Formats: sequence, structure tokens, C-alpha cells
Amino acid sequence: MTTIPGSAAQRREIGHAPFDVWRIREDFPILKQKVHGKPLVYLDNAATTQKPQVVIDTLVRYYETINANVHRGIHALSEQATQEYEGARETVRRFLNAADAREIIFVRGTTEAINLVAQSYGRTFLTAGDEIVISAMEHHSNIVPWQMLCEQIGARLRVIPFDHRGELSLEEYEKLLTERTKFVSVVHVSNALGTINPVRQIVDLAHRRGIPVLVDGAQAVSHMAVDVQELGCDFYAFSSHKLCGPTGVGVLYGKAELLTRMPPYQGGGDMISVVTFEKTHYNTLPYKFEAGTPHIAGVIGLGAAITYVQSIGLDRIAAYERDLLAYATAALDAIPGLQIIGTARDKAAVLSFVLDCAHPHDIGTILDREGVAIRAGHHCAMPVMQRFGVPATARASFAFYNTPEEVDVLVRAIYKAIEVFA
Ligand code: ALA
Repeated sequence: MTTIPGSAAQRREIGHAPFDVWRIREDFPILKQKVHGKPLVYLDNAATTQKPQVVIDTLVRYYETINANVHRGIHALSEQATQEYEGARETVRRFLNAADAREIIFVRGTTEAINLVAQSYGRTFLTAGDEIVISAMEHHSNIVPWQMLCEQIGARLRVIPFDHRGELSLEEYEKLLTERTKFVSVVHVSNALGTINPVRQIVDLAHRRGIPVLVDGAQAVSHMAVDVQELGCDFYAFSSHKLCGPTGVGVLYGKAELLTRMPPYQGGGDMISVVTFEKTHYNTLPYKFEAGTPHIAGVIGLGAAITYVQSIGLDRIAAYERDLLAYATAALDAIPGLQIIGTARDKAAVLSFVLDCAHPHDIGTILDREGVAIRAGHHCAMPVMQRFGVPATARASFAFYNTPEEVDVLVRAIYKAIEVFA
């Protein structure tokens, strides 16, 4: 039997009133499942979060009673579908505190949002010799679209380094900002390290030089309240499926002034006002960027997911997860031969680690047999692995429905892995 220092005491402080995690867990049917005969302990929330019943019901209700195309029909179902679709846009606007619903573009996910900006903004306003600044802790989704743009137009990528804890160097960042810098794109919360970056400062430093900033918020929106006006960023991207919503849908927030000047990313239905063979006139915002039939059910489901997390409260979620992360960090730190990768002072609920006796994939396999779902690999952030000199990490990532008891199961499973491989 593994003893976890301090666990009993800390357990009393988290997971009970005013944050009733056990009540919240009732909302997630999948959490009642067993895996390999053991209760599921789902700690792969950075990959995707589970869905509450209300989101599942919203999707079923849409297909059972509303299904119709949006913005096109004059019949009752189409009107209702359009109303709910646009209602979800307003829900997202309030969620991000965007100034205007025209600034909310529905896309397939964070990846598509970044590709949209790289291609539409980048190919219009950047040119050969210009520089784009990203950080060394970006997900591939915030590296590759910029590399592709650089190859297309002859621009250059510059990279903000981070230290041994996984904290970005703002000093080095400032040095990278020159008259050649034409765009900055940084991650809000690192999916591999959990670092919460000082996005407000990053934006301010770029804006002082007139440089626009995109923030990849894929790992942030489920862990903290995000206010795009307060951050001041020009673009903000996130995915629904990491926020308890359906897969295949996400959001690009962009300042109306910039989006208005940008050309469409894709051509097709809904993004036009007039088409002739001689010339096409594009639709107004936000439709100019929503070519083709969108993921209507997904958008409405995302609206339901946002309403759900807001009913719990992002500030309460952040406070609960902070305690849970502290508890898990202390518990994992006490395991001999385990090294936590990513020890920034400001972190979201992500714990990447390596064991000196086992490869992360082997850890993941043993944990799976204990019912514990984690991710093992490079987490689509290979440069982060290179920086730490590891091929991969095992990563436990938490959501507001995880409990300290589940952390205890994780710890016991890690000891099992050590027994097998040591
Ligand atoms: N980007 C997702 C992750 O970090 C898939 O696992």
C-alpha cells in the first residue's frame, strides 16, 4: 500500500464544499465507466475533455428536432437552427468578452484558426524578409502554419526561448522584437509543460511596436477565465473539444478592424454576397470566413458546453484545479526516480513527467491497465522534448471533475510501473 504524504489532510480541503466535485462528476456519464475492470481515471484532459450530459443532450436534440441548414432556408427549422447557431456565437462572444459578435469566427479548431490567420493575414500583410516571433513551447499547430507561410513568402521564424522550469524569457523576447518583426504568435498555456504564459505582457511589448499578436488558447479556456479585451490580443484561438464541447469545431476571435482588412481563407457558400463569373463580392463579418455548411450541431453543442462551465464558474474551476495540481505535484515529487518536466511558477493543471526506469509509453501502458488514462509521447511539441533532452514524457492532465482520490490511484499505478520496470 502506497502512502502519500499529506494526502488525507489535503483531501479534506479540496473536493468538498464550496466546490462539490462529486456532484459535478454526476454530469459526466463516461466517468462511471470501468476500463480493464478498474474505475476509469481520466487524466488525458489536455488531449480532449469529457462531455457533460447537457452537451450530449444538446447534440441529440439538435439532430432529433432542429436539423436544418443555417442562413439559407426560410422554413421554420432553418430559422431555428440559424437562431441557435447565432445564439452560440453570442455565447462565445460573452465567454471571451469580445466587443462584437462579428469578431467570433467558427472554424474546425485551434489548428484551422491559426492556419486561417497565417494564410489570410500573413500572405496579405507580410513579405520577404519579415519576421514572425513564436515561442519554443508552441504546439506544432502554432509552428508549422508559420513555417509554411515563411516558405511561401520568404519570411523568417524567430523563437523565444524558455528556461529549465519552462518559463519564457521576456528579456530574450524583447530582443527578438525589431523593425523586421511583423507578427507574434504565442501559446497561452503550454500543453506539454502546463506553463501559463504572461500573455498580457507579451501583447503589450508587441503592441508598443505596432506588432499584432495571436494567442493560442487551446489549453487555457478550460482552466481560467479569458477576457480578450483585457489581454489586448488581436487574435485568440481555441477548440471546443478541450472545453467539454464536441470535436470538429473551434473559434477564432479576431479584432473586427483586422478581420475586415483580411481576405477570405476559403471560398464557397455563405462567404459571398454576389457571385458572377467576372467577380465575386464577399460577405460581411463573420460570414466572410465561414465558407460552406458549418458544423452546426457542433457550434450549438459548444454553446451548451460554455453555458455549462460558466454555471460552475471559471474562477472556481481555476481555484479548485490549482489545489488539485499542488496536491498532485507534491505526490509525484515524492516518487523516487520521477522527474517532473515543467515546473513553472504559474501553471495550469498539467503534469508531464519521466521515470528513470521506464519509457513514457511503457508507463502509459501499465497505467492503462490500472484504468488510468494519460498521454505519453511528444504531445505535438517536439521542440519542448528536444529542449529537455527527452524523447517523450508521460503526461497527466487534469480537469475540474478530477479528484484527489484519482491522483492517489495515479500514484499507486506509477509505483506499479516502477515495480515492473526497475
Ligand atoms: N494537443 C492535444 C494534446 O496536447 C492533442 O494532447
